[in-house]
Amino acid sequence: MIATAVAPLAFLLVTPHSPALFAQESCLTTSYHGQFGHDSVFLVSDDCLAWAGDFLEGGSVVPLEDMQGQQLVWLEHKAVDESLVGSSLDEITQFIAGLQHATPEAAIVSGAQQQHVLTNERPALLAVPSSLAHTIDAHLPRFWKATPIPSAPVSYVPVPADARARVRELLASIAFDPVVASVVGNISVPVMQADVRYLTGEDPKSGLVSRHSFSQGALDAADWLKEQFESTGATCELKPFLDGFAPNVICAYEATEDTTETLLLSAHYDSRGSFGSTRAPGGDDDGSGTTALLAIARTIARKGITFRKNVQLCAFAGEEQGLLGSKAYAREMREKDADLTLMIQADMLAYHAAGEPPQLGLPKYIGTTEVAELVSNLSAIYSPELMVGFTSACCSDHQSFHEQGFPATQIFERAGPVADPMYHNSGDLSDRPGYDFEQLRSIAKVQFATLLHAAGFDLPE
Ligand SMILES: *[C@@H]1O[C@H](CO)[C@@H](O)[C@H](O)[C@H]1NC(C)=O
Ligand SMILES: *[C@@H]1O[C@H](CO)[C@@H](O)[C@H](O)[C@H]1NC(C)=O
Ligand SMILES: [Zn+2]
Repeated sequence: MIATAVAPLAFLLVTPHSPALFAQESCLTTSYHGQFGHDSVFLVSDDCLAWAGDFLEGGSVVPLEDMQGQQLVWLEHKAVDESLVGSSLDEITQFIAGLQHATPEAAIVSGAQQQHVLTNERPALLAVPSSLAHTIDAHLPRFWKATPIPSAPVSYVPVPADARARVRELLASIAFDPVVASVVGNISVPVMQADVRYLTGEDPKSGLVSRHSFSQGALDAADWLKEQFESTGATCELKPFLDGFAPNVICAYEATEDTTETLLLSAHYDSRGSFGSTRAPGGDDDGSGTTALLAIARTIARKGITFRKNVQLCAFAGEEQGLLGSKAYAREMREKDADLTLMIQADMLAYHAAGEPPQLGLPKYIGTTEVAELVSNLSAIYSPELMVGFTSACCSDHQSFHEQGFPATQIFERAGPVADPMYHNSGDLSDRPGYDFEQLRSIAKVQFATLLHAAGFDLPE
């Protein structure tokens, strides 16, 4: 890729993400290709690079030749607990060698050619044939994730001040409500157990072996989810977003008042298993978040709740391939100029290490602080048993909404990095040590309480 004889056509600029980069209309605003982890990526001309160099604090620059038929892929190590980090550097080096052996046109653009540059904190950039950009996850070592870098520039849409102010107003109005406490207290562990066991295939009746985005199981799971949500009074749609991928499952409860305001809770129902195995039960990642959504829906039906504002419960696919389902849906919401008050993504809610208290993690890096504060406040009120803190585990479907300028956050199972030994493993079942249904229920109560307070609701007489 980096030939010395040929003049580069463009430069890839990777620099720590900061709103200041977009403070003025510049060549940076028109050459932005998105945020990846803590970094922003730009594809710039040499003029722009010379201009930007004067005010950038740090980062790296990679000269690029003609990218015809190739797509850049951002390869990053997930934030995982020390107890899980094994020989990840060897794994990724072997993976890249294997990739280049099988696909000679794949190239390392930056990172791995100097081994010492590729650490757990540093990403690598690969150029791969476009056809491989969406399927590379099936071959990745499990703590690594690949996100395709869009080939066209994307716009930077900060969350507007008035949208943040609206969440702050909501936060200021929060006080313990005994009716909310009684409704969220109706979430049932045995019902959640049955739902997650269906999704993982631990329930022999389900027949699901995998919910990987390209699998038949994901299509079957989408149909089943639609049916379950509809049985609670929601109106659901299966929305395809890319060829070959299972669809998003988008479910809505219509407002009883005349308003465009919408609240959105989500999870991803696609899963990833061990390399070489067709089994991908995804009991924690993200069967747990999907089950929490179902538990909320089933309680809405059991209690006969109606919402004053519009409510959407969304189960996304394509998360493991780079947040692809949620990106498509968030883009659609932006194009419609949707009036989205807030969205909360639940990704991995059930696991904590032995001896640890039940926890709720909020994102350290990507998301809207006001929404995280609201969740944290409601957690203290309705699930005081949860120890709330921040996690460096980064980048689930809330990022797709946050980068379209919608107030968004993520909830996670730990106030720290990923510690689940079955993460991205074919053994990610619900019936195993550390999978804590009480924690799952406590977090689902917080999600549901946030929805009830934010949307307003009525119970039958
Ligand atoms: C939930 O509420 C229903 C009645 O509305 C009741 O029959 C059921 O026992 C409650 N379940 C829990 C777990 O509180
Ligand atoms: C959040 O919760 C605390 C403790 O319950 C409360 O004192 C505070 O007023 C709440 N609101 C905000 C905006 O922090
Ligand atoms: Zn996940």
